[in-house]
Amino acid sequence: MSDLHKLIDQLPKAELHLHLEGSLEPELMFTLAERNQITLPYSSVDEIRKAYSFNNLQEFLDLYYAGMSVLQTEQDFFALTQAYLEKARGDNVKHVEVFFDPQAHTERGLPFSVAITGIKKALLAAQSEHGMSYRLIMCFLRHLSEEHAFIALEQAKDYLPWIDGVGLDSSELGHPPEKFKAVFTAAKKMKLKCVAHAGEEGPPHYVEQALNLLKINRLDHGNRAMEDPGLIERLKKEQIALTVCPLSNLKLAVIEDMAQHPALDMLNQGLLVTINSDDPSYFGGYVNDNYKALTEALDLEKHQVVQLAKNSFIGSFLDNEDITAYLKEIDRLAQLHLPPTES
Ligand code: ADE
Ligand code: ZN
Repeated sequence: MSDLHKLIDQLPKAELHLHLEGSLEPELMFTLAERNQITLPYSSVDEIRKAYSFNNLQEFLDLYYAGMSVLQTEQDFFALTQAYLEKARGDNVKHVEVFFDPQAHTERGLPFSVAITGIKKALLAAQSEHGMSYRLIMCFLRHLSEEHAFIALEQAKDYLPWIDGVGLDSSELGHPPEKFKAVFTAAKKMKLKCVAHAGEEGPPHYVEQALNLLKINRLDHGNRAMEDPGLIERLKKEQIALTVCPLSNLKLAVIEDMAQHPALDMLNQGLLVTINSDDPSYFGGYVNDNYKALTEALDLEKHQVVQLAKNSFIGSFLDNEDITAYLKEIDRLAQLHLPPTES
């Protein structure tokens, strides 16, 4: 294994862009389908994996929503979350800020309580058993109406102590952030953090709307912000963290080749870039796989890998004291990790 890959494995990291429903591995999908007597349109795990070939975001979303139909009970959401947290722990992830899509479940007839209770129990277990910290972010589905998002926010009121923020995901093109201005304003009043997917497929002015109208604390993806020098300057000046997802971008044809990924350009321009896995089961890798793929394709140097790990904490919603402690720990590890001396 290369030295940098070893360092990636060892560095403490935070993951800030992860859809729990997108971490549903085909094996668990089959188990849950059987348990809940649901017939899947696949006859094997291999067949599912073969189906994961996408030309754009919508082709993925169609399978993503179909796949999550096997999630029926609180225990199913517990199992889903527990499995992700175990993978993250294996990657030395110390802190997670995870998304879930409550409307995708209430639309199927599940009570709002089912998903969030199963998820919360697994997060609590990982915290008490392994010291992993977390934040939970509920996303509004942008292909649905703002009225629908308001219903989800109303349902969330009974669970507010469990919810740290709101996000915006699903089909981006044709559903600009401005459509959700009022519901984000309401969420902000409830002291929830605000994040939004923007600039994954959508144009730079969607990013601008997310900043100006949704008052986001963090930007999910943001790739296409790189087309607008004024926007780059603003993201840099305001140190808005970008949660970029390299393997996702490759699988959804946002980029043609990993060597074209804008992460290094973002880093070089002083942006607060973080590396994340998005929907790891569908895109072929968890967070360390994303760091490694990027490191190989862009020939990243040690100081850049270290900066990305630091950014993951700086861009998190952790308290400053915790962030400082992680940054110190990363510096300590990076110093220990010296290149081999010539003999
Ligand atoms: N929902 C799950 N993954 C997503 C992504 N990459 N973009 C938008 N919505 C999503
Ligand atoms: Zn995402």
